[in-house]
Amino acid sequence: MTPEQIDGIRKSSKLAGESLIYINQFVKEGVNTAYLDRKIEEFIRDNGAIPATLGYNGYPKSCCISLNEVICHGIPSENTILRPGDILNIDVTTILNGYFGDTSKMYWVGEISAEARSLIETTKHCMNLGIQQVKPQNQFGNIGFVINRYARTKGFSVVYEFCGHGIGVKFHEEPQVDHVARANSGPRMKEGMVFTIEPMLNAGHARCKIDKHDGWTARTIDGRLSAQYEHTIVVTSTGYEVLTDVEGEYPL
Ligand code: MF3
Ligand code: CO
Ligand code: CO
Repeated sequence: MTPEQIDGIRKSSKLAGESLIYINQFVKEGVNTAYLDRKIEEFIRDNGAIPATLGYNGYPKSCCISLNEVICHGIPSENTILRPGDILNIDVTTILNGYFGDTSKMYWVGEISAEARSLIETTKHCMNLGIQQVKPQNQFGNIGFVINRYARTKGFSVVYEFCGHGIGVKFHEEPQVDHVARANSGPRMKEGMVFTIEPMLNAGHARCKIDKHDGWTARTIDGRLSAQYEHTIVVTSTGYEVLTDVEGEYPL
């Protein structure tokens, strides 16, 4: 990407990150996920952008909201109502002036189990370990290598059927960013590359099954919990910049 393009992606990414902060106040017991989707869509449009998922390959909503055993691509619905003990991922992708930004984080309702807390913390740490691998000349495989190695020490499995992806002037582009990979494998990172790191960790088995009826919702095969975090990142001359970071958490 050129510096001008990176600047455009940075602005879109900031907006996607801000939408995840904005929605926090609405995540409460009794709220349905279609309502959260509407609030997200309103926020995105009020800020001059478009939700990228709306109509993407026929996807019907402005974000993905994935509860409990849903790994990713949960479709917001009036029938999905938040209950105490639920954990959920909200994944937002914005298009601002033609540039894409993609990010997701975890939320929870009331008291959650020790397993749920550990899964959420471990998933965020895995994403951060992956982000710390981003620098010119490092190989993409090292991202998946450190993510999977750490997840396993905590007894969790890493989903290998969905990956991070190049992003910027399209939603999904090259390269594919695996979250399970061999050390020192894959292409090398170059200054100006923009891509996501978005590991999904499961409490039990790594595999997913896609809902037969809606064709989108990916669930764990054993019904156990899943968590995900995602950031959009650019390779800089010395390392990385997390474009969707709005809380000043990075660089680590
Ligand atoms: N935001 C998701 C990602 O991280 C993609 C969602 S595509 C949709 O790549 F169609 F399911 F919305
Ligand atoms: Co993504
Ligand atoms: Co996403």
